[in-house]
Order: sequence, then structure tokens, then C-alpha cells
Amino acid sequence: MPKDVSSDPVIAPETPADAAEAVALVDRVFGPGRYAKAAERLREGNRFLPGLSFVAREDGRLAGTVRLWPVRVGGAEALLLGPIAVDPAARRRGLGASLAARACEAAAEAGHARVVLVGDLRFFEKIGFQALAPGRIRMPGPADPGRILVRALTPGAWDGVEGEVALP
Ligand SMILES: CC(C)(COP(=O)(O)OP(=O)(O)OC[C@H]1O[C@@H](n2cnc3c(N)ncnc32)[C@H](O)[C@@H]1OP(=O)(O)O)[C@@H](O)C(=O)NCCC(=O)NCCS
Repeated sequence: MPKDVSSDPVIAPETPADAAEAVALVDRVFGPGRYAKAAERLREGNRFLPGLSFVAREDGRLAGTVRLWPVRVGGAEALLLGPIAVDPAARRRGLGASLAARACEAAAEAGHARVVLVGDLRFFEKIGFQALAPGRIRMPGPADPGRILVRALTPGAWDGVEGEVALP
């Protein structure tokens, strides 16, 4: 692949100065329909974890964002990953995978064991996510069971965990 003329993207924890651009990117990428998603029920009235949420900047411009939120699944603590969005002009260069991987790495370093999200397995399996048996983990609203994906940050972290994803 030819080398892009722009400098390599820099991934760093989201700061208050990034928030407006991060939200604007997500709004642009997902459109107003995002507020109808089941995952949004877990973000309203919740706070994303700033040390575990990241932005990518390329030549100063915000090119990508990912956030992690505290949730519970059954009785177990977990983190909800999302939204994740990469500017269309910066896609297919590994930035989305790098952002998701970086957030999971930071979560593991902070002692978290479980990450859950609603997304496409073909993208997220590269970063270690998998689907569990349909119905074992449910969202608080309509979600395709095959798109509810989990990653264990410690071995066996999802063993025996089941139920609805809920606010912490
Ligand atoms: C998903 C997204 C974050 C990926 O960002 P990215 O920087 O392009 O990701 P990467 O470069 O690491 O990986 C791209 C690869 O994932 C694949 N991919 C991306 N989104 C996909 C999807 N929804 N389903 C299947 N594959 C997908 C691409 O086809 C590409 O694979 P290829 O290069 O082998 O063809 C970006 O496409 C985006 O913002 N999409 C819109 C928002 C969205 O759908 N977010 C995820 C919600 S779960």
C-alpha cells in the first residue's frame, strides 16, 4: 500500500478538549439513528471512563474515537465498548482496530476483566472478541444476538456470566 502523505495517527486518552470533536465524529458517522440503539440505553445516565477512552489524531484532526463505559452483566462488572468511529477518510488503515485494542489494553492494565459490545464479528474478532451462545447475554432493548460480542481480559472471565447488560 502506498505511504500516505499525512503523518501517522497518534492515539491518546480522550481529554475534555477532545469531547466535542469526538461526539461530532460519532454523530456524523452514525447519524441520529444512534440514539435509538440499545447500547445508548447504557450510556444515558452513565459516564464513560476517560482513562479508558481514546481518540486518534492525524495532523491535528480528530480521526477516530472509542469509549468504554462501566456496566454490569448479571452480577459481574464489565465494560461496554462503544461507540467506535473512524473518519471515513482515515478508514481501512488499521486505526479502528488499533483504537479498540488500545482501549482493551488500558482496561486490562486497570484491572478490568470483561468487555462487551454490540458490533460486527468480522471486524471485532480481529481484536479478540467472540459471540457467546445466543441469549446468554442480552441488551436492554432490541439487538441482534449474533452482534453481542465479548472479550475476556483475564482467562475465563466470562465463564458462568449471563444475563442482561445493565447500568453499574
Ligand atoms: C468500524 C470502523 C470503526 C473501522 O475503522 P477502520 O479504521 O476502517 O478499521 P480497520 O482499518 O482497523 O479495519 C478495517 C477492516 O474492518 C472491516 N470492517 C469495518 N467495519 C466493518 C463492519 N461493520 N463489518 C465488517 N467488516 C468491517 C473493513 O472491511 C476492513 O477490512 P479489510 O481492510 O480487510 O477490507 C469504521 O469503519 C467506522 O467508523 N464505521 C462506522 C461506524 C461503525 O460501524 N462502528 C462500529 C459499530 S459496531
